[in-house]
Amino acid sequence: MTRRAIIAGTGSALPERRVTNDELAQTVDTSDAWITERTGIRARHIAGEGETTATLGADAARRALDAAGIDASAVDLIVLATATPDQTFPASATKIQAALGITDCVAFDLAAVCSGFLYALSVADSMIRAGGATTALVIGAETFSRILDWEDRATCVLFGDGAGAVVLQAEEDSARGILSSALHADGRYNQLLYVDGGPSTTGTVGKLRMRGQEVFRHAVTNLAAVLAEALAKAGVDVGDVDWVVPHQANRRILDATARKLGLPAARMVITVDEHANTSAASVPLALDVAVRDGRIRRGDLIVFEAMGGGFTWGAAVARY
Ligand code: UT7
Repeated sequence: MTRRAIIAGTGSALPERRVTNDELAQTVDTSDAWITERTGIRARHIAGEGETTATLGADAARRALDAAGIDASAVDLIVLATATPDQTFPASATKIQAALGITDCVAFDLAAVCSGFLYALSVADSMIRAGGATTALVIGAETFSRILDWEDRATCVLFGDGAGAVVLQAEEDSARGILSSALHADGRYNQLLYVDGGPSTTGTVGKLRMRGQEVFRHAVTNLAAVLAEALAKAGVDVGDVDWVVPHQANRRILDATARKLGLPAARMVITVDEHANTSAASVPLALDVAVRDGRIRRGDLIVFEAMGGGFTWGAAVARY
């Protein structure tokens, strides 16, 4: 018997406030034309008072459980991927756990920045396959607006806030589920995309800093390679893929990666125009959008990919 982790449901949540490029250009030295042309971003959601990583994550998780038809009491594992926790500790995963009314399960945060959801999915999948969990919430939730330097036009226009979640459930001998994953990190590049503060260095939260062009260059190479690796591990061909659900950093990165792999751009789920880069939330957010609008259907072969600070990067293949 083969035990697999199937995706039983998806959910997402966005802050109420939607901010367009034009609105941003009223306070930042930028323009809708520059942002759209260089990134494909048209708008992003920005968290307001009372909206935090944990509240957004809990809303996304609730919707994923509803979609799966599973009661919160069945959850025995919560992995929250985030680089913007509510506090340094306790883990925001425990705040989500409490908000869902769960009083006993494994709950922890995982930090791999934009690749966080891929890392979290792989950890939860491994725990389920090893018999250590049966029903897992895998959540990516972020409030990057709170670590942006709003004076730095090269970064502040690129990011947004939001959350996405999936319910993974153990199933025996299923054709569905997570088929493979591939994860990487190379810390030699950790000064190309980072936050310039933290509890053990400055004692402050710090702001996001990025050398955008260098990140861009690595992104296309790493993403194409790790996608090919995950497909090979799953024993499937690029031609078998129904949908790629990529990390939403920049439309140009998505187009270049698709070209490099020989994938039709029409098979990429693109939400960067509406969500901007929501770091660990971007893959599960895009997945939920495409599931709810009917593009992704049961039985489809889907591929996830992401790359971010560290550098970290990864991909996973799943039969939905
Ligand atoms: O999620 C983690 C992964 N992150 C990424 O994948 C991000 C990867 N990097 C990128 O997406 C792109 O490098 C950016 C979108 C960040 C930048 O695009 P670019 O085409 O590499 O632009 P650039 O940095 O070379 O800047 C070109 C020009 C500069 O002006 P000069 O020096 O040519 O006069 C910038 O000062 O654009 C200027 N610029 C802006 N202008 C208007 C930079 N930001 C802005 C802005 N509005 N917001």
